[in-house]
Amino acid sequence: MAKDNPNAPTSEEVLAVKHFTDKTFSFSLTRPASFRFRSGEFIMIGLMGEMKGRVKPILRAYSIASPSWDEKLDFYSIKVPDGPLTSMLQNIKVGDKVLLGRKPTGTLVCDALLPGKRLFLFSTGTGIAPFASLTRDPEVYEKFDQVILTHTCRTVAELKYGYERVEAARNDPLLCDIFGPDFGRRLFHIPTVTREDFTLKGRITDLMESGELWAHVPGGAIDPEHDRAMICGSMGMTLDTKALMETYGLDEGSVSRPGKFVIEKAFVG
Ligand code: A2P
Repeated sequence: MAKDNPNAPTSEEVLAVKHFTDKTFSFSLTRPASFRFRSGEFIMIGLMGEMKGRVKPILRAYSIASPSWDEKLDFYSIKVPDGPLTSMLQNIKVGDKVLLGRKPTGTLVCDALLPGKRLFLFSTGTGIAPFASLTRDPEVYEKFDQVILTHTCRTVAELKYGYERVEAARNDPLLCDIFGPDFGRRLFHIPTVTREDFTLKGRITDLMESGELWAHVPGGAIDPEHDRAMICGSMGMTLDTKALMETYGLDEGSVSRPGKFVIEKAFVG
């Protein structure tokens, strides 16, 4: 297929699959030598499937969860029981082939933010994926003194992927090499849960509005002069968090016009 059309997806091999809950799983793919992207971007992923009696590629946007320097490509997906793609994708095994688009894009990139001191990464559910990429990118720690990653899920079990990715970032050999073995102290992880008991309970928006969040954040509440933010979650979460950022005096940026915060809704839902 790729031979005929230079824009057609390439076919990549599945290197690993890990199921986290009955609703989420992660997988890794081979990375073509020519595939370039910026940490935080997304790409189309898919499988051949039948739609209206025709076999054709079924593609959906996925944030790349590995950093731009990595040899392989990582992804984190939900499983939608009747989802045209995820109902098939959740059954992939090591050695299977997955279609990978050729044009990564997205707004959750360092270049879309003005320089600052603290970088807030607000995520819910699989919206943490682009931040798994960014928290392993040296550029983030060159640009910001502290990185504060919040991850809110309905249940405690759904937080596991985030704990693993934060651990991986704090122990990343490349980052430890560049910034020293204690650099992980600059990466703060604030998990919260909404539908079970947990140390920090509630939606991230509610925790900001009540002020409860700031007791867990080094340096306290958001200051528009020095703080920058990225937001990735469901449509509702993205819009509510964006509105809060605006009340704190942060203005939205884009790749062509950097600002103080950027948003992207988590895709497959
Ligand atoms: P809640 O349990 O109160 O709905 P989902 O799986 O629906 O995407 O939700 C993932 C997490 O995001 C849940 O903890 C959910 O809280 C939270 N959430 C959903 N909508 C919003 C919103 N508008 N603002 C902030 N958090 C939200």
